[in-house]
Amino acid sequence: MENVLTVRGLKKSYGTQMALAGIDFDVRAGEVFALIGPNGAGKTTTLRIIATLLTSSGGDITFLGRDLRKEPDFVREKISYLPEEAGAYKDMKGLDYLEFMANFYARTPEEEKDFVDRAVAITELGDRLKTKVGTYSKGMTRKLLLARALMTKPVLAILDEPTSGLDVLNALEVREIVRRYVKEGTSVLLSSHNMLEIEFLSDRVALINKGLILDAGTPSELKGKHQASNLEEVFRSSLR
Ligand SMILES: Nc1ncnc2c1ncn2[C@@H]1O[C@H](COP(=O)(O)OP(=O)(O)O)[C@@H](O)[C@H]1O
Ligand SMILES: [Mg+2]
Repeated sequence: MENVLTVRGLKKSYGTQMALAGIDFDVRAGEVFALIGPNGAGKTTTLRIIATLLTSSGGDITFLGRDLRKEPDFVREKISYLPEEAGAYKDMKGLDYLEFMANFYARTPEEEKDFVDRAVAITELGDRLKTKVGTYSKGMTRKLLLARALMTKPVLAILDEPTSGLDVLNALEVREIVRRYVKEGTSVLLSSHNMLEIEFLSDRVALINKGLILDAGTPSELKGKHQASNLEEVFRSSLR
């Protein structure tokens, strides 16, 4: 499978604080790839650099064969980014929010309608889309934001902690939405500090700690290699 994204030797320092010490990974076409690791490991920093919101201190990133630093606009056109702790406009109705965002990204009225229809289907919120975002539960808001991130059919959707803070059922729904829409040709790069839940969503994972990748592979490869029954155990084993 061809790579959508190639990351090599990626480094980032905030002043004297080293957040990324040189990391390598690839995201292939049509896969869900997860960066998993504890808080402070460098996940958000990595995703923000790939989303062109933060500049790296070193290393190379190639997106669809193009150098991200040289062609940031090319990258921005083809990715979407759901930030950690993102919110939507509370005084807007859900549907108005989706229409507003679709209008922002679409090049034609037909495309705008297509984006909205797709977003409405992704949220599964039905008539609640006619009510204000401020009245939504955390799970509903997350689905709305996820729909915003997936409606444009990006080549790569970057989702920072898409299930964090959600209860079990809402987290399950979000995982199902991600799985379903990846089938349609979008690749997903996501992060999570929850190593157990992410195993069932990801085709491949990279374990990250203190700005370094400890190991990477499919969940079953990693479990086999470390003789572990889940990714938390793999993580502990790879620290040694
Ligand atoms: N704006 C910033 N200024 C200084 N240090 C930062 C900043 N953002 C993140 N860091 C530090 O970089 C490291 C990685 O953070 P982050 O990428 O947010 O990790 P994660 O998303 O895995 O929790 C942490 O040690 C964090 O404290
Ligand atoms: Mg983070």
